[in-house]
Amino acid sequence: MMAHNAYLRAFGKHWLKPLTLAALIAPFAWLAYQWGLMLGGLPNDMGWNVGQWTHRYLGDTAIRVLLVSLAISPIRDITKWAPIALIRRRVGLAAFFYALLHLIAYFWLDRNWSIPGLIEDVTLRTYIMLGMAALTLMIPLAVTSNNTSIRKLGRKVWDRIHWLVFPAAILAIGHNLLMVKSIEGDPTIHAVILALLLGWRLVRWTMGKLKKPAEATA
Ligand code: HEM
Repeated sequence: MMAHNAYLRAFGKHWLKPLTLAALIAPFAWLAYQWGLMLGGLPNDMGWNVGQWTHRYLGDTAIRVLLVSLAISPIRDITKWAPIALIRRRVGLAAFFYALLHLIAYFWLDRNWSIPGLIEDVTLRTYIMLGMAALTLMIPLAVTSNNTSIRKLGRKVWDRIHWLVFPAAILAIGHNLLMVKSIEGDPTIHAVILALLLGWRLVRWTMGKLKKPAEATA
């Protein structure tokens, strides 16, 4: 029903992509604003531990943007509003950039660019190992998130590579869940949202499999 709405179609064509870009840049702009306030000696929202606040903020943004990217296909299936698929790649790419900034902020502000310190963290702390694995899996996705790669690889191979987003998201959620000592709000909410998004796909896949043999015998 939604797909036939002319306004929604026009919005999808002209506004959806630039508005998505603005929304994806907004968390970074807000972080830059907070840093500007701090460097100018003005009151800001970052608290006394600016380093920890910054890398945590970037980690939270990365995981939320990643979950939004995984929500796009289910939203398209439910609403039948096809243009929403146009923003999937840029949302996924933004998740990668926030995750990369999260690592850089941690490496810089927490570890003072110490490679042995980072290696020690990765090997000794399971949750950091999971974060590293998640980010590593996101690299091929980010590198191939462009039209040239789709053309060169072909849709089938490209889809297969981008299937990596699921293990990457599971590892990122594991990273998020393991770092807290007690069950706090956010990581559990992130985990429940991921479970729903993966559950939706599993149900659709199972229904597709059940339909095929039925169609074959019809
Ligand atoms: C090389 C990769 C990574 C490293 C070294 C790393 C490291 C860390 C560290 C040290 C913390 C803070 C723990 C604390 O302060 O108690 C953290 C928090 C977090 N990270 Fe990562 N991380 C990595 C990758 C990722 C990725 C790929 C994501 C998501 C896509 C992610 C999402 C988060 C989230 C959501 C938090 C919690 C922030 C909060 O407490 O509010 N991280 N990470």
